Amino acid sequence: MKGIVLAGGTGTRLYPLTIATSKQLLPVFSKPMVYYPLSVLMMAGIRDICVITTPSDQDAFKRLLGNGSSFGVNLSYVVQSTPGGLAQAFVIAENFIASDRCALVLGDNIFYGSNLTELLKRASSEDNGATVFAYHVDNPSDYGVVVLDSYGCPTEIEEKPAVPRSHLAVTGLYFFDETVVERAKGLTPSSRGELEITDLNRTYLAEGSLNVVPLDRGFAWLDTGTYESMLQASNFVEAIEKRQGVMISCLEEIAYISGWIDSQSLAWSGAKMGNTLYGRYLLRLAEEGCKGAADER
Ligand code: DAU
Repeated sequence: MKGIVLAGGTGTRLYPLTIATSKQLLPVFSKPMVYYPLSVLMMAGIRDICVITTPSDQDAFKRLLGNGSSFGVNLSYVVQSTPGGLAQAFVIAENFIASDRCALVLGDNIFYGSNLTELLKRASSEDNGATVFAYHVDNPSDYGVVVLDSYGCPTEIEEKPAVPRSHLAVTGLYFFDETVVERAKGLTPSSRGELEITDLNRTYLAEGSLNVVPLDRGFAWLDTGTYESMLQASNFVEAIEKRQGVMISCLEEIAYISGWIDSQSLAWSGAKMGNTLYGRYLLRLAEEGCKGAADER
């Protein structure tokens, strides 16, 4: 399975923070925002990953993430010249996806929870249909909203409904089978001129092949859409990392636990980060191994 991190968009809701840089490169406590969604694809076991950015931000992403080898993945880059919608990712990354299945994660979505890896591995091993995740929120009108029947099967899905029929938001993480590119190409732009991810999900819903996995209250799905929610996300990450002494979304650690890099590579990356929280963490892992941290996951 391939993976896409969608990290384009205009970021206007965070101006002036995002006038000169991409939203997904802004810090969330100890690391850039894009580390969090990237770690989700890695935890799903996906190693061929395409990062979609705006034309002007691509170089900055390349400086940050390179070819992915320091954290055991193969990264490629594609630009989205204008924000034509989330489902457009599958059209512009068509060559990258080829005839494979593909996951998409939004570059501003943060997930945290104890059996997340297991849920992700299960979703990425599904051969047919689509898998999305639903999360109970207070403000469903700000999201794609899904309605489930008493068996947990989806009956409808709507993008930012004025009068939502449930409190279940569809998170920005999607797993699709190999028909996704053709489906995305067949979509008609919405009234706001975008290829909507919700319309793509609807094509699966219509065929009875949209699988919705509820994330219970033990999970954190965090928003980064406003100054306040960015700060809350940073405070959340700080609280967990300081309290437990383990990092959330440390890419090198996930790669090491997965057997994609060795302890030498971990130490080399740690030394490169200098005397920072992140650098010292990598050096400690290289010395002690990731056993303790892996058990916590
Ligand atoms: O976060 C989950 C929600 O994400 C879902 O519940 C919604 O169904 C889905 O439409 C989306 O809603 P948003 O309002 O968050 O979408 P937004 O337009 O803000 O885009 C999400 C991110 O994707 C944002 O960081 C910018 C980036 N983006 C957006 C568009 C439209 C791109 O990279 N390219 C694009 O063309």
